[in-house]
Amino acid sequence: MGRITFVEHDGTEHLVELEEGKSIMQTAIDNMVPGIDADCGGACACGTCHVIVAENWISKTGTASEDENQMLDMNPEKADTSRLSCQVQASSDMDGMVLHLPEFQM
Ligand code: FES
Repeated sequence: MGRITFVEHDGTEHLVELEEGKSIMQTAIDNMVPGIDADCGGACACGTCHVIVAENWISKTGTASEDENQMLDMNPEKADTSRLSCQVQASSDMDGMVLHLPEFQM
């Protein structure tokens, strides 16, 4: 299906396989990528699965819901291309996508 790269705050990269039907959060958890806490298990209720999508890839992640935007607005590390990774479903057109992890999840 393709592969995506998570980049930790210190620059460490993790190249992982996308899987049909999984969220980007679940993909990170299943591949033991550090820096994604996902305290609510994907219910869009904790904000601890925050990722910052590389600018040229943001259009591939779809549109954030109002609930997701409200959660992101509470995060001081929010960037223009921030998403909650539990709300982004893997798709084959994400092959090559780069996601940056914030220094802290909050
Ligand atoms: Fe809680 Fe994404 S896992 S908001």
